[in-house]
Amino acid sequence: MEPKDKKLMETLPIPQSVYGMCDFEDVYWRMASEAPDECIFVELGCFIGQSSMTMARAIVGTGKKISMYCVDLWPIIKEGEMYRYYLQKWRGDLFRGWAENMAPFRRHVDIHALQCDSAQAARLFANQSVWFAFIDANHNRSSVVADVKAWHQKVAFGGYIGGHDVGPKPWPDVEPVVNGFYRDDWELIHRSWLHHKN
Ligand SMILES: C[S@@+](CC[C@H](N)C(=O)[O-])C[C@H]1O[C@@H](n2cnc3c(N)ncnc32)[C@H](O)[C@@H]1O
Repeated sequence: MEPKDKKLMETLPIPQSVYGMCDFEDVYWRMASEAPDECIFVELGCFIGQSSMTMARAIVGTGKKISMYCVDLWPIIKEGEMYRYYLQKWRGDLFRGWAENMAPFRRHVDIHALQCDSAQAARLFANQSVWFAFIDANHNRSSVVADVKAWHQKVAFGGYIGGHDVGPKPWPDVEPVVNGFYRDDWELIHRSWLHHKN
C-alpha cells in the first residue's frame, strides 16, 4: 500500500534500526489498510519496539485514527552476556528502550503502553472493542492458550486476531493452539497466523 503522506514517512525511524523479531510488516500494513478509520490495535509482546514501530508506521501510512495499545512485561534485565547491549544502553530497563524507540511516533499516533501480563491486560478492554490484536509474547502452550482465550472475546466482529511464530521451530506450541481454537479458519502469512472474526 502507498503511504498517504510519503514525506512524513521519510521523517520516521526505520524499525530495522532496532533489534527485534518483526517479519510481519505485511500483516500490520494489511490490517491498517483494512481497518475502519477509528479503531483500536493491540500488540502483545513488544520487546524494545521493532514491531511496535512497524505497527505505528503502518498506522501513519494510512492516515487513520487508530489507537495502539502495546503490552509487555518489560522486565529489568540484571545480567547476562546476551543482554550486554541493553544493560549498557538502558541499564537493563527494556521499557526505557521501547519508550525511546517509540518517542518519534507518539507525535503522530495515539500510543499507550501497558506494562503487565498479556492475558491479564485483556481485562482492561470491553468485549469486542478491539479491531486487531496480535500476539507475540510468551510462546509456551499455556500462555498462548491464555492469550487467545482472553483476546478473542475482545476482538470485534469483522476484526482480526493473529500472532507470530507458527511452525515447528522454534516455538512448536503455537500452531497446535491456533489449530485447537480456529481449526482451519486461519491464514498463514510467513510465520504469522491471522483469524478473521466474523
Ligand atoms: C518475541 S519478543 C517480542 C518481539 C517483538 N514483537 C518484536 O518483533 O520486536 C516477546 C516479548 O514478550 C514479552 N513477554 C513474555 N511473556 C509475557 C507475558 N506473559 N506478558 C506480557 N509480555 C510478555 C517479553 O518481555 C518480550 O519482550
